[in-house]
Amino acid sequence: MRFSDETLHDIKCRFRRELENGLGRDTNTTATVKMLPTFVRSIPDGSEKGDFLALDLGGSNFRILRVKVTQDKKQPVQMESLVYETPEDIIHGSGTQLFDHVAECLGDFMEKQKIKDKKLPVGFTFSFPCAQTKLDEAVLVTWTKKFKVSGVEGMDVVKLLNKAIKKRGDYEADIMAVVNDTTGTMMTCGFDDQRCEVGIIIGTGTNACYMEELRHIDLVEGDEGRMCINTEWGAFGDDGSLEDLRTEFDREIDRGSLNPGKQLFEKMASGMFMGELVRLILVKMAKEGLLFEGRITPELLTKGKIETKHVSAIEKSKEGLTKCKEILTRLGVEPSQEDCVAVQHVCTIVSFRSANLIAATLGGILTRLKDNKGVARLRTTVGIDGSMYKMHPQYARRLHKTVRRLVPDSDVRFLLSESGSAKGAAMVTAVAYRLADQTSLTTLCTASLTSWTTWA
Ligand code: GLC
Repeated sequence: MRFSDETLHDIKCRFRRELENGLGRDTNTTATVKMLPTFVRSIPDGSEKGDFLALDLGGSNFRILRVKVTQDKKQPVQMESLVYETPEDIIHGSGTQLFDHVAECLGDFMEKQKIKDKKLPVGFTFSFPCAQTKLDEAVLVTWTKKFKVSGVEGMDVVKLLNKAIKKRGDYEADIMAVVNDTTGTMMTCGFDDQRCEVGIIIGTGTNACYMEELRHIDLVEGDEGRMCINTEWGAFGDDGSLEDLRTEFDREIDRGSLNPGKQLFEKMASGMFMGELVRLILVKMAKEGLLFEGRITPELLTKGKIETKHVSAIEKSKEGLTKCKEILTRLGVEPSQEDCVAVQHVCTIVSFRSANLIAATLGGILTRLKDNKGVARLRTTVGIDGSMYKMHPQYARRLHKTVRRLVPDSDVRFLLSESGSAKGAAMVTAVAYRLADQTSLTTLCTASLTSWTTWA
């Protein structure tokens, strides 16, 4: 699990090839990294205004937000939000149940905001791979992470949500844009830093988007300007290209998952599996008598008993070892001090591998951006969000350091998205809404927008 820089460079090159396959007309259909066009062409320039709703589904929480964008210099964006439960039976149920639930929560939110009589524009952050031909249409390619809802794959989620809202009949909503959480993050950060041209999520799942030259996107008409591409890098390796790097623990995680054989890079790197990877390693070590004097308890053998937040707690520099003892004691393994030190070390190896893998794929994107621009040195900003990146005590530092080592001819600013990806979805909606007044939504896909700042 510990990669040399040579291996990381190799992963970076493999990933770059995947990016190119995903963009090519002939290679796209068989490509594992899907490189989905988002129909978002530029970042907000600050001239947007209005009152919007944003839905955020697919991350660790289901959130609904009201986002007010004004011309106020001090506080241009005001947000109010509520988190709603998405119970297990809904994320593993039917599409009708899921969208009825979303529509019900939206109704509740509007009621609480006393805006049920208004028809506000809605931006939808839907954090799954979707094929888009315009902003307000998004056909789900496949479920990922913890979701497995029947009857939605291959369907347009905007239509499904509209249907659920209509069926209720107690309010109206105008869903104007669907964005992936990576795009939402890039837009959120782009509001504060116009140089932002990459968005990354390292949370339950992991993924990235970036601004690609339109002339390189075979699937979209036109050659002028750029478009945001949702890479869906979680699927990297699904064609076997990471087999030499996957371990027995990665294979076991995959076998027991909702989607075996799929999202293999995500299963090695994202937060959803970090704790479980550690647990599987501890089980093996205990079985070999290397930990806990060989004591194996039913708790230690139970899937999910070590969570990602535990890995973060164990790696804290000051109280990490105490936390480690607490967590292991709860598993009934009666750890010694040496056991705690060893377990802390295992956590470091697993989470460091994740940061390294993501540094390598991000390195692939950055070198591509650099080549696209034809510059000797890349100066750019990467917007980032996700629980793993935010909560783990060492993760961000390790990631930044490795990226800078792998792409030395660059000055990369990492910008944490403080207000989440939904703000970005509202920004996309703000522009879509304004343009819908003037002309059709597809205008967003033309290069001639004056009120939007096109990335340099
Ligand atoms: C999964 C989804 C992707 C999303 C990511 C982070 O990889 O497929 O669309 O961006 O998780 O939430």
